[in-house]
Amino acid sequence: MHQSQLHEQPPKQSIRTMFRDLLQRVKRSRLFIVLAIFAVFIVAMIEFFIPQAIQYTIDVIIPQQLVDQLIWVFVLVILAALMLIGFQFLGSFLMAIVGQRALYDLRNELYDHLQNLDVAFFDRNRTGDLMSRLTNDVNMLQQLLSSGLLTLLSDLFIFLAISLYMFYVNWQLALLILLTFPILFFVTRFFARRIRSAFRNVQASLAEINNHLQDSFSGIRLVKSFAMENFESERFQKRNKINQEANLNAARNFSLFGPIVSFINYFGLAIVVAFGAWQTIGGEMTIGMIATFLIYLRLLQNPIRRVSRLMNTIQQAAAAYDRIQSVLSERPKIVSKPDAATLNVTKGDISFDHVTFSYNDDKEALKQVNFKLAGGKTTALVGKSGSGKTTITNLLTRFYSPDHGTISIDDTPIDHVTLESLRSQISVVSQDIYLVNGTIRENIAYGTPEIDDLAVKKAAAIAKADEFIEELTEGYDTSVGERGIKLSGGQKQRISIARAILKNPRIILLDEATSALDTASEKAIQEGLDDLLRNRTALIIAHRLSTIQNANHIVVLDNGHVVEEGTHEQLLAQKGYYEKLHSLQHEALATI
Ligand SMILES: Nc1ncnc2c1ncn2[C@@H]1O[C@H](COP(=O)(O)OP(=O)(O)OP(=O)(O)O)[C@@H](O)[C@H]1O
Ligand SMILES: [Mg+2]
Repeated sequence: MHQSQLHEQPPKQSIRTMFRDLLQRVKRSRLFIVLAIFAVFIVAMIEFFIPQAIQYTIDVIIPQQLVDQLIWVFVLVILAALMLIGFQFLGSFLMAIVGQRALYDLRNELYDHLQNLDVAFFDRNRTGDLMSRLTNDVNMLQQLLSSGLLTLLSDLFIFLAISLYMFYVNWQLALLILLTFPILFFVTRFFARRIRSAFRNVQASLAEINNHLQDSFSGIRLVKSFAMENFESERFQKRNKINQEANLNAARNFSLFGPIVSFINYFGLAIVVAFGAWQTIGGEMTIGMIATFLIYLRLLQNPIRRVSRLMNTIQQAAAAYDRIQSVLSERPKIVSKPDAATLNVTKGDISFDHVTFSYNDDKEALKQVNFKLAGGKTTALVGKSGSGKTTITNLLTRFYSPDHGTISIDDTPIDHVTLESLRSQISVVSQDIYLVNGTIRENIAYGTPEIDDLAVKKAAAIAKADEFIEELTEGYDTSVGERGIKLSGGQKQRISIARAILKNPRIILLDEATSALDTASEKAIQEGLDDLLRNRTALIIAHRLSTIQNANHIVVLDNGHVVEEGTHEQLLAQKGYYEKLHSLQHEALATI
């Protein structure tokens, strides 16, 4: 049942698969694409045409002193240039739209997909890694679509037009020039590879730096309280150093690459100048032709360099595509079955029948667990830390599925009903309280956003949260900060209880819901909770046994096994595990 982590080094999807998929994704923008290709074609033709005007000027206008034609050359070149920039703008903007649309769709698709994956998937994968797939990797594909492919096309057009013309005019010189291109191509590829691998190291070291920043700043209280500032600084410096070295390595390759390419370009230039001049002297070429060849040479060399660099972009995009694809191909295991019914809670009886479960294959968190929660009654779950209490709530809400055994509500196995209907009937106040970064009102009404203010206040009153909220200057509009950082632990718990109350469910799971409260506050809440729990099926988990004494039934868990069951009195009379826990806590209280 356990999937592996997302591939760090994804399997090579073929570049063809990527393009096929991308083509599918830009289908709805096909009109824009056709227009962009047309624009790029015009641009290429204009770039080809301008040197022709120069050649005409040198070879015809100057020798024949056709002064009155000069104004036309001037106007023509300016007009051509205006058209050039107009179509360039059109082409690149249209492709930007195409790329951005695809990016928008893909990112939404990824987000929806991720949200529906199992909780276990998020246990296995780092948030930062998933974030980078939604941001960097998606951007990479968008760049390929927006600029990469367009450049490729325009380069191709220019390359074809110019080389055809060159061969037509002077095939010997054209051949000589073309001979330098393979050299240029392979040199660029050679460096592109080295630069890419250097760049990958830069990225990796940057990710390390980011992780470090995130860890040390969000854990700044820990760092300070253990006086670990210097330790963290040293670790940071090490990572920063690795990043510096990676950058320098990339820079070394980059710095070598430019001059070498320049040299090859000058080599081509030397050929045109020397061979062209020789032919001109022999009367086989005109001066204007040499000038045109020189300009065309530049126009040719750029595409060669760009194409080999583009091959890099394509490879990087393919890697990004792989990483995105590996997320998209993850399938949630915990889903509503196609024929799932809506959960209809009647009595509210819940049963665990021979439930065995492990988070990862090495250790079972629950072993052959059997017990019942009577409908409308309160059952308490006690046991040592790590005995599997929270795991029970995780299985009941189907965050995870048992490896063996069945959990049923009113005799219907919970995997036979829709996830949505199951979860809508259960309120959980979890041990790790999560508050969203919004106001107190938004936090209480999370999950029931249409609810009116009065109901929010009533829920807060039952959870005994109203007093402290009203004392805040902004009351229910007070922002709780990231993860509720501006509130105390007990305040967060009470907001979380209010949230659970507002949902008005048939089943309530309270996992250490009042553990952060002082005894007086807990007592005060207890009344409200008693009211709330009446006629609902409730599971209360608490280390403080005084909290659960009044439960109708108590289940004792040890190391994933149910070891004892009964009422408080029955269990005390048994003088077993529960009695031991109880007397330990009494002793502890007595010593205070
Ligand atoms: N997400 C997880 N991935 C892997 N193992 C887990 C995960 N959550 C819990 N465990 C393991 O499962 C076992 C039971 O954990 P559980 O959270 O149910 O304990 P608990 O009884 O709620 O303890 P506590 O009283 O400390 O909250 C523990 O051994 C724990 O290490
Ligand atoms: Mg727990």
